[in-house]
Amino acid sequence: MNVILRIKRYQPETDDASRFQDFEVDVEPADRLLDALMFVKRNIDGTLCFRKSCAHGVCGSDAMTISGVERLACKTLIRDVAEKAGAVVTIEPLKSLPVQRDLMVDYTRFFEFYRVVKPFLVPVQNTASSETVQMPAERARFDDPTKCILCASCYASCPVVAEKDPDFIGPAAIMQAARFVFDSRDEGIGPRLDILDDAHGVWPCENHFQCTRVCPRGIKVTKNINMVKRQIKAFKEQSDQNT
Ligand code: SF4
Ligand code: FES
Repeated sequence: MNVILRIKRYQPETDDASRFQDFEVDVEPADRLLDALMFVKRNIDGTLCFRKSCAHGVCGSDAMTISGVERLACKTLIRDVAEKAGAVVTIEPLKSLPVQRDLMVDYTRFFEFYRVVKPFLVPVQNTASSETVQMPAERARFDDPTKCILCASCYASCPVVAEKDPDFIGPAAIMQAARFVFDSRDEGIGPRLDILDDAHGVWPCENHFQCTRVCPRGIKVTKNINMVKRQIKAFKEQSDQNT
């Protein structure tokens, strides 16, 4: 069936502002939107720019706004966004990040927030053994945030980032922090929680749940943010008792 891809274009050399351009493509309902975009690039307009790498929902590089919702193009089927022939599918870059070209955004700020939370294990100093034993129940505590592929869909969908606090580190950075905050092998919890216990850390989150709705990995993002908030409070109470 034929559908119209209405793509937001911006070529900095020639465009003063972004504009929409329509491309009519012949697709099957089970085709992926990424395949349709690749068809346009290979056969209609080679100047069309977008990122993609794995094409299988693993790398997170092809997140974009598809019919108004943040999604991965490689995990979106035509039938998910086009009910019948002639349907118009609007494709735009992610919101809240500067557009570089067409569907490509500049992730610099997003990854600055990622680095701020120290997204690495600070190992427990274990002199008795070279291994730090972790039980299955302890491992399960941080299983959810390990699924994050840093696609930035949650960040782009967040109304707090868009409308209230552009300095809010955002849901993805908090997921990266949660991955280590709840890891029993990590000893960096104090400094990490200090970073998150900030006016632009976890507290701007207002539980809109947009991040949870759009996450292509099915992470319970809002729930994890609230777990981190509770962990900060518990850690502070414990520290007060110890002093
Ligand atoms: S939490 Fe989900 S939506 Fe956010 S960056 Fe990670 S995978 Fe993407
Ligand atoms: S291209 Fe890697 S997640 Fe879609």
